[in-house]
This record gives sequence, structure tokens and C-alpha cells, in this order.
Amino acid sequence: MMRRIAILSSGGDAPGINPCIRAAVRTALDMGVEVIGIQEGFDGLVRGEMIPLKARDVGGILQRGGTFLRTARCPEFLEVKTQRKALRELNESDIDGLIVIGGDGSLRGAHALAILGFPVVGAPASIDNDIWGTDMSIGVDTAINTIMHAIDKLRDTASSHERAFLIETMGRNCGYLALNAGVVCGAEMILIPEKEVSMEEIVQMVAGAYDRGKSHCIIVVAEGSSLKVHDVAEYLRINEVGFETRVTILGHIPRGGSPSAFDRMLATRMGVKAVEVLKAGETDLMIGLSGRDIITVPLIDVVKQSRKPNLELLDMARTLAK
Ligand code: ADP
Ligand code: F6P
Repeated sequence: MMRRIAILSSGGDAPGINPCIRAAVRTALDMGVEVIGIQEGFDGLVRGEMIPLKARDVGGILQRGGTFLRTARCPEFLEVKTQRKALRELNESDIDGLIVIGGDGSLRGAHALAILGFPVVGAPASIDNDIWGTDMSIGVDTAINTIMHAIDKLRDTASSHERAFLIETMGRNCGYLALNAGVVCGAEMILIPEKEVSMEEIVQMVAGAYDRGKSHCIIVVAEGSSLKVHDVAEYLRINEVGFETRVTILGHIPRGGSPSAFDRMLATRMGVKAVEVLKAGETDLMIGLSGRDIITVPLIDVVKQSRKPNLELLDMARTLAK
């Protein structure tokens, strides 16, 4: 019997976590299930940082980026003794089930608790879109749009000054953000960890763009790329490719911002589904998007692999940037 559930956000935050929390809370309350908010991820869980959540507590957060429950990283949670402490906190608070909203690391933490026998369901939230089992994670669409608007602005000044801009995006070891932003911004080159490129190839491409009379050159670089933006910029300077070069590192900007309509819908549907799955007595599952459908995926399958970007987009981007 699921009388009281808890919800937490963990790891890197992402736009859309608040709509997910809001949907889960109001769905649970509508089912007569109490809701406890756990503050600051697994770190807060082991410290017993818990607050009751009512319908009004999740008002006015649908449009807000970040997570009002806050998040944290908790390296100690990789240890079973810390996971067992978390279980004690949950059981002593008469909590019957847990929803974990977070990235691949957080979902590993969720799986660890499920293995110890506690009912847990995960919702994928990470701008990296590296979580296996779902077409999109919460936050990705907002992040892509944030990056796109930033690169559009940089293209304006790059054209005015006839410059080559190297723009670094987040994504940890996944090139999804750089790849998709590069395509939708018409970047001349995209550097991602999944496909290595030599410095010589970059020089040839940039010099070729200059010789073809392009007014600018945009190179989007995933932070996980083996070639780093400042090194590439310096190499281009030394090889006198025609353009002056400049570097912009977008850093955490795509991590914030008001969730897009897509992310609000995705997060809302996932929050509702997470409560329905827990209430139905299921556990050790992640909520995912498959096409138009909201599905469930065993966490054991999620945590043993990561989602890879579609490398066909790289060839398409190069052709279209000619
Ligand atoms: P994200 O969830 O955004 O990928 P992290 O990789 O930092 O962020 O993971 C968030 C938290 O999840 C970690 O700080 C840790 O508390 C927990 N976690 C990560 N990996 C594991 C694991 N293998 N086992 C248990 N807990 C984990
Ligand atoms: O996983 C999301 C992410 O933004 C990665 O793209 C990035 O490498 C990492 O988090 C940054 O972590 P932090 O916010 O702890 O600096």
C-alpha cells in the first residue's frame, strides 16, 4: 500500500525538474497519497532533509528553471553503508516509495536503492541527453534552444568582424548538445568526443571557408572533445587561416532558464507516470519517452549503457555548411 511517497532531485540540475515535481505532487495528492520533498538530493536524504509537500507548495514553479528542492552531488552514496542509511531515513519517515529525478548518476543511485528492496522510480533529467532508454531527457530541449540563441548572437558579431568563433558547450562525455546545436545553427564544424577530427582537418575546413568568401566560421565544440577550444584557436592562429579567432565557453548557461513548452510537457507527463507506476506497485524502473509515448524501462538496462548521438547529423551538417 503506497500511502506516502518522497521525491528528490539529484545531480546536475536541468530546466523542467520543477514541472516534474509539480506533476508528481499533484497527481499523488489526487490519489490520496501524501508527498514528502527531500531537499538536496541523496545528500539531503541521508541527512533527513524532508518537508511535506501540498498542492500549494508546488504552485508557481512550472515556469521556473532549476529545482526548488535543490540538488547536490553525494559521492558517499556510492557506498552501500550510505545507501542503507538512506533506507533507514525513508523507513523511519514511513515513506513507501521514492521518485528520483536526475541524470545517469542519480539513476544509478535510484537503482542501488531498488536493489536494496526499496520501491524506486526514476525520471531522466539531464541536459546532456546521454541517458539510455529515453528519446529525450528533461531539460534537453530547453538547453538546445538556449545554446541556439547564444550561437545565433555570436554569429552576428562573427560576421561583422569576419571571425572564426570556437564555442564550447556542456555535455560531459556526450556530444549530443554540440551536435544538435551545431546543426540548427549551421555551424561550419562540430567537434564531439564520439568522432575524432585532426587539427589539420580543422585548418583545411576553416581556410576553405575563408577562401570561399564566408563572412564567418562557427565551430561548436563539446566539452568532452579531445581537442580543446583554446588549443584549436591557437592552432588556427599559428596556421593563418584568414579569420581571426575568438573563443566563447557557454558553461552553465544552458543549465538554467525557464523550461520550454516541450520540456514542461515531457516533465509533466513523466511526473504523472512516475506516481502511477509507484502506486501500481512497480519498482526499479525509469520513465522514458519513446516517440510520442511515455514508457517504463528497467533501471538495470539504463545504468549499464548510455545514449549515443546520431552521427549521421555530422555529415549532414558539413554538407549544408558548404
Ligand atoms: P547526474 O545524476 O547528473 O549524472 P552525478 O553523476 O553527479 O550527476 O550523480 C549524482 C549523484 O548520484 C552522485 O553524487 C551520487 O550521490 C549518486 N550516484 C552516482 N553514481 C552512483 C552509483 N554508481 N551508485 C550509487 N549512487 C550513485
Ligand atoms: O551532467 C550535466 C552537466 O551540466 C554536464 O554537462 C557538465 O559536465 C556537468 O554537469 C557540470 O557539473 P557541475 O554543475 O557540478 O559543474
